[in-house]
Order: sequence, then C-alpha cells, then structure tokens
Amino acid sequence: MSDYQDRYRERLMDAASVAARVEDGWVIGMDAATAHTPRIMSALAARAAAGEVKNVKVQTLLDVYPLEFYADKSLDGKLNGVSWFAGGGARKAINAGFADFIPNYYRDIPKLIRSCYDYDAFCVSVSPMDEHGYFSLGCVSSYSEAMIEKSRRIFIEVNNFQPRAVCGLQIHISQVDGIVENNMPLPVLPAANIDETSRTIGGYIAELIPDGACIQLGIGAIPDATGMALKQKHDLGIHTEMFTDSMVELIECGAVNNSKKQIHRGVSVTTFAFGSQRIYDYINDNPAIALMPVDYVNDPNVICRNDNMISINAALEVDFWGQVCAESVGTKHMSGSGGQIDYVRGATQSKGGKSFIAFTSTAKGGTISKIKSTLTPGAVCTTSKNDVDYIVTEYGVAHLRGQSLASRTKQLIAIAHPDFRDQLAFEAKQRGIMI
Ligand code: COA
Repeated sequence: MSDYQDRYRERLMDAASVAARVEDGWVIGMDAATAHTPRIMSALAARAAAGEVKNVKVQTLLDVYPLEFYADKSLDGKLNGVSWFAGGGARKAINAGFADFIPNYYRDIPKLIRSCYDYDAFCVSVSPMDEHGYFSLGCVSSYSEAMIEKSRRIFIEVNNFQPRAVCGLQIHISQVDGIVENNMPLPVLPAANIDETSRTIGGYIAELIPDGACIQLGIGAIPDATGMALKQKHDLGIHTEMFTDSMVELIECGAVNNSKKQIHRGVSVTTFAFGSQRIYDYINDNPAIALMPVDYVNDPNVICRNDNMISINAALEVDFWGQVCAESVGTKHMSGSGGQIDYVRGATQSKGGKSFIAFTSTAKGGTISKIKSTLTPGAVCTTSKNDVDYIVTEYGVAHLRGQSLASRTKQLIAIAHPDFRDQLAFEAKQRGIMI
C-alpha cells in the first residue's frame, strides 16, 4: 500500500502543470459525460486563451460540464472540440463553425479509435485509488479501454464524488502519468418534465411490454415516462447504453430483478450512467450493475441474446418510409446517432423483441408535424426504413416492420396530429402512394 501511496504522491500535480505539458498539435481523448476532466480542461483553455498553444484538439462525447472550447469561439485554432455526439455545448459550437463532429455508431467508436486515431493524452475522471493501486472509471466504461491503448500519456482527475464501479473499468497507478485532485459533485441531468402527452405515449408502449422483458431506455421525457409506466411489471431486466434514473426507480420498486435475462442474469448491464445523485449512489460499490465497453454492450449480436429485448428511443421527424431522423433539423446538427440503431437492430433481432421510436406528434408549439411525407432537405437518416419497427405518438402506435409503403403511410397518418392529417394524405396521393 505505501508503495502505491508513494507513487500517487510522485504523480500528484496541479491542473496547470498538466496543461503546461500540452504541445501544439496534440490530440487529446476523453470518454463520455462524467468521465470528462473539467479542471484539466479549464487549465488547458487558459493556456490556449493566453496564446501558449495552437491546433490542439479534444475529442469528447456528451459534454455535461461547461467545456470552454465549446463555449468560446476565440479559442478557435488554438483549442477545438471534436465530438462523437453533437449534444449540449458541442451542438452549438458545431453549428457555429468552431467544433467538428465524427459520425459513428456508438458501438463502433472503440474500433474507430483503434484504427483511425493516436492520442497524445487521454484524460479521465476517476474515483479515489484503492489499496491495490486501482482507480475505478466510475460511471463510464464506453471507449476508455481503446483510448488507453492508443494514448501516449494518461492524466487522471481524482474525484471522491466519482462512484467506485466494482464491475466497471479500472486503471492502475502504474499506467498514469499525472494526477490532479478535483473533489466536486458530479453534474446531474435535470429531471425530465413528464407531461400528460409523455405519459400517454409511455402508457401505449408499456401495454406492449411483457413481464420478463429486457429493456433499454433512451434519454428524455418519453423514455422516462415509459419507465414510470413499467412499475407494475415483473421480472424485467436491463441491458442499456445509458443507465437512467427511471431504471433505479424500477430496480428499487422490484419491477426489475434481471432474473429472466439470457445473459448477465441478475445484473443490470450498461456502458455509462448519467442522471441524478441517486444513480451515482446506486453504482457505488454495487456488484448488481456492470459497466462494460460499448463495443460489447451496444453490439446488436449481444443485445439480441436477451429474449423480449425492448428498446425505446426518440426522434425529431419520420417520413412515410419510416426513415427516422434523430440527429438534425434540416442541416442543423442536433445530436448524434448514439446507440439508437444498435438497439433498434438488437431488439428487432431478439426473440420476442420490439423497438419503439416515440415522440410527440408536433414541434414548436404545434406548428410543425414530426410525421412528414419526406424528411426535411439536409436531415440525417438515423434509423433506416429497413430497420424501423414501432413508431409511437400520443395518437397511437404504428407497426411498420414488414409493411408496405402504403400501409406505413396510412398508419403514420393515423398517428399524426389531426391538424396535419389531411395535408399528409394529400401529399401521399400526389406521390402516388396507394392509400
Ligand atoms: N422540426 C423542428 N424542430 C424540432 C423538430 C422538428 N421536427 N423536432 C424537435 N424539434 C426541436 C424542439 O422544438 C426542440 O427545440 P428547443 O430546443 O428549441 O426546445 C429541439 O428540437 C429538441 O427536441 P426535443 O423533442 O425536445 O428533443 P429531445 O430532447 O427529446 O431529444 C433526440 C430527441 C432525438 C434529439 C434525442 O433523443 C437524441 O439525441 N437521439 C439520438 C441518439 C439516441 O437515440 N440515442 C439512444 C440511446 S441514449
């Protein structure tokens, strides 16, 4: 133990000393969300602002801290963010032209890292060192393993608020080049506003989920509302990309016990967790949750091994083919593919599995229908017509998989907002669709 403590003290430094090592042209990697290292990044931004470095790039996914390189355009050319998922601050910076975006399936990121990138440094937030010299990577295990393999140096930010995930990735003191201490509560995701519409949609989906199903819930009010609607179910399991608050609720009320899973029976499986302090407390020292690399967790061939796999995700618009856009409004970046397709494919290939894409029927105060004849020019197709399964709005459920274009169109118009149905039917007829 004392040897590890000695090594810890030797590597301990302040954030400015880590930033001082960064040279022009460095590429720095970070994993998702709460894995980010805000103190090191702020010190690096200060150096960039002072004109001491240029052309430094930092790769991120789902930024949950106010990272300076996504907020301050004056850092452009000195320090730029490159996102694997255009949410949060990254979304604004990408649309404003001073951050870049790498398209991907989340499950592929480790492979892309191993084949396309070398990193000058990998920075990661960890929980305090244990007696064997290991630091837990806490709430995130998604692609850190690949970045560690491809990085010349590793800098960690030790945070005693970062939970210790006993079934998650660990890093050893011998692998670490610099340690910065930064004890601060992890950021929390504001609770989703579950309104009447979300509750209605959640209710439709819950009716189609059998006891014993294995669930993935995406981010947002509708997946949360569906989670809440599942509290009366029995023997549910969890195999998901993101572990959310509603999942802790389902575990604690007894609806989830993971007893019917074909793989990882008795254990909830995820690649990262983000939400309230309740989640972080749940993960700490808990062998009932496994945080595993995303190339395993999000692999459709792994997902489908659980029977009755149910995936629930959101969208921005859907056309008559059932092509789902979840990433852009026209050419404006809104998000990334994340694991949507991974779970659509995994769920639809599972015995008894179902994949739901759910959203409110309109946007912008009821002025825009999210069901459209064609996707808006420039829109990104996230889930293809060949993969799509169920589409749900507050007006009902459309089951598109295996159905013709005419059947899809009819079903989608029936669940569009009533104010838009005549116009949609007119456009369908103009296109010669046999409705
Ligand atoms: N046309 C114009 N604007 C639209 C729109 C449309 N068809 N649909 C939504 N919008 C606007 C909303 O009004 C809102 O605007 P605001 O920010 O000014 O309020 C904004 O776009 C976001 O829409 P909202 O419906 O609130 O999105 P959300 O927070 O529920 O997120 C996705 C929806 C699709 C962006 C999100 O689920 C996502 O990132 N998905 C991709 C990744 C994924 O599915 N991962 C799954 C595993 S976690």
